Amino acid sequence: MTKQRYTITTALPYANGPLHLGHVAGVYIPADIYVRYLRAKNEDVIFIGGTDEHGVPITIKAKNEGVTPQQVVDKYHNIIDDSLKQLGITLDIFSKTTSKTHYKTASDLFKKLEGEGAFTEEVTEQYYDEENKQFLADRYITGTCPHCANEKAYGDQCEKCGTTLNATDLINPRSALSGNKPVLKQTKHWFLPLDHHEEWLKTWILEGHQDWKSNVYGQCKSWLEAGLHPRAITRDLDWGIPVPVAGGEGKVLYVWFDAPIGYISFTQELLANDKNRKWEDYWKKDGKSKLIHFIGKDNIVFHCIIFPSMLKLFGDYILPDNVPANEFLNLEGDKFSTSGNWAVWLHEFLADFPDKTDVLRYTLCSNMPETKDADFTWKDFQAKNNNELADNLGNFVNRAFVLTHKFFNGFVPALANLKEIDENTLEQAKEFNGTISESLNKYRFREALSELMKLSSLGNKYLADTEPWKIKDNPERVGTILRVALEIAAKISVLGSPFLPETSQKISSWLGISNKEWSDAERNLLLTNGFVIATTPQLLFSKIEDDVIAAQLEKLKASKLAVQQAKVSAAPQKENVSFEDFSKMDIRVGTIIEAEKVPKTAKLLKLKIDTGIDQRTVVSGIAEHYNPEDIIGKQVSILVNLAPRNIKGIESQGMILMAENSKGELAFVSPEKVIDNGGGVR
Ligand code: 2FM
Ligand code: ZN
Repeated sequence: MTKQRYTITTALPYANGPLHLGHVAGVYIPADIYVRYLRAKNEDVIFIGGTDEHGVPITIKAKNEGVTPQQVVDKYHNIIDDSLKQLGITLDIFSKTTSKTHYKTASDLFKKLEGEGAFTEEVTEQYYDEENKQFLADRYITGTCPHCANEKAYGDQCEKCGTTLNATDLINPRSALSGNKPVLKQTKHWFLPLDHHEEWLKTWILEGHQDWKSNVYGQCKSWLEAGLHPRAITRDLDWGIPVPVAGGEGKVLYVWFDAPIGYISFTQELLANDKNRKWEDYWKKDGKSKLIHFIGKDNIVFHCIIFPSMLKLFGDYILPDNVPANEFLNLEGDKFSTSGNWAVWLHEFLADFPDKTDVLRYTLCSNMPETKDADFTWKDFQAKNNNELADNLGNFVNRAFVLTHKFFNGFVPALANLKEIDENTLEQAKEFNGTISESLNKYRFREALSELMKLSSLGNKYLADTEPWKIKDNPERVGTILRVALEIAAKISVLGSPFLPETSQKISSWLGISNKEWSDAERNLLLTNGFVIATTPQLLFSKIEDDVIAAQLEKLKASKLAVQQAKVSAAPQKENVSFEDFSKMDIRVGTIIEAEKVPKTAKLLKLKIDTGIDQRTVVSGIAEHYNPEDIIGKQVSILVNLAPRNIKGIESQGMILMAENSKGELAFVSPEKVIDNGGGVR
């Protein structure tokens, strides 16, 4: 019989930051458990992952950090890759969407579909920054939200009230690049006409995939019932895969068009030099592989509707068999937030708890956001380690080993004269192979793990009921009891291997059964009479003390506070002034008509300002923030009746008003629309 093939993918995280526990609980832990389970069953699996290295978030991060997008993605790709390896996520490949193979595959597939007329082309109007001479991605446009008046809403969403927006909905839109008002300009884009795919998608999902998780099925249903619309699959941006057809100059593929193709390109990379396997075996229909995407809930539409439409157009490709998407994990009751620094970063966890990777896997699996959002708390992490892993599983295995050493010098004893309790226990233990498999087959990871813990509870109860340590002068009876206990420990090592790989590995090497497969756990006996188990039994799990948890909670609070303080670094209010005092200041709108650096100074620019009254010279300490050539023509606010001052030998006749942020960056205080020079500021 040929083996079933599986193509298992993990959502490609954007390489603009490290992974936090939310990513891990939602995607990597379930995927790795599933893959380890399939491998233990001896199935033919490839396990694909990598980083998503295009898209606007990367360009924004690069701009904020003053580096190139390539530098950003290289840095985070490596951090993410290392941390996943350390957590024991057994991906066969962890590649990147900036790889050569990926560029070629994504371009080729786009060209093929374009040639076949699968796309439509449309000219639309989009915001354009005239100063920077570029179209603005939605995230690069800010303005006032028409729903809640938040002045910092983005062109695609208001983060304050959560409304999805179009950039043209914003009141008073601004370019995040120049601060200027963007203009609408025509541009051509390629669209994927999803409406043409609605019919078959409805049949395929709504009728054919009622087995999908209800959160996934439900989201698909509401999308399909609302009706699908053409979706732009190209962007005016300079970071991404260039649109490879005539007319595509200056444009790139939309990140959500190229990223899922990454799953295909990475398979090509993985199997490029493999003599026995071809990438097509895992992607083409005649390869008969099952495609399963592990993702978070925000990616459902892309993996259940858009990517399948693309796969269908590619021709003879398989469609996903299942997309077991998870909901979100929160942290101590609040959403994970990168910008708010409310996160437990995976690489930091691993540095703080290098010997607790299985504990993290256990905590995130037993609390996986499978059907609804879940919460990670440090107290719960401690409780799961101390009360469940150490006191239940660890304690059981340890007792079985210690007693075997005490009574039999570590030799695995034989079974003799089984009593009812022994037979019943062995019988019950045999069942767990079936119950755990059944849960895993349905992607019910929490349930599967709780079954595993029931197996160790069974072992604990058996030892408590039989009390081998109290039996005098009956070594045969003690031997039988300990053998039953060791057999349960052996089953734990096989059935626990997808969830707790390091722990399982320890137990199985102590028992000398490292080569066992999943189906072996169905047998009554896995051990060999007389095998000598490891000389000194070690504890599988050490307890975590309160001060360790308190330190983590402190760290979380401190980092959040630091972000809040940076945001609210406003200086205290000054003493009140009378209106009369205020009116003494003559502040006007003026336009910069000349600008040059003041020689031998780092901070000063000499400006000529048209104040509407005259053209005058002002020296301003802004040279570290603006290039002289960039600010000619800019309207600014100027205090015109400040007594003239001599600065570096130049008479400065007034002062330009500047706003300053918490980092000490300066910005002009400019009118929001053009005002005649000399117009008063009140
Ligand atoms: O939401 C995200 O983080 C995306 N980078 C996921 C991409 S998954 C895939 F299609 F590549
Ligand atoms: Zn809003």
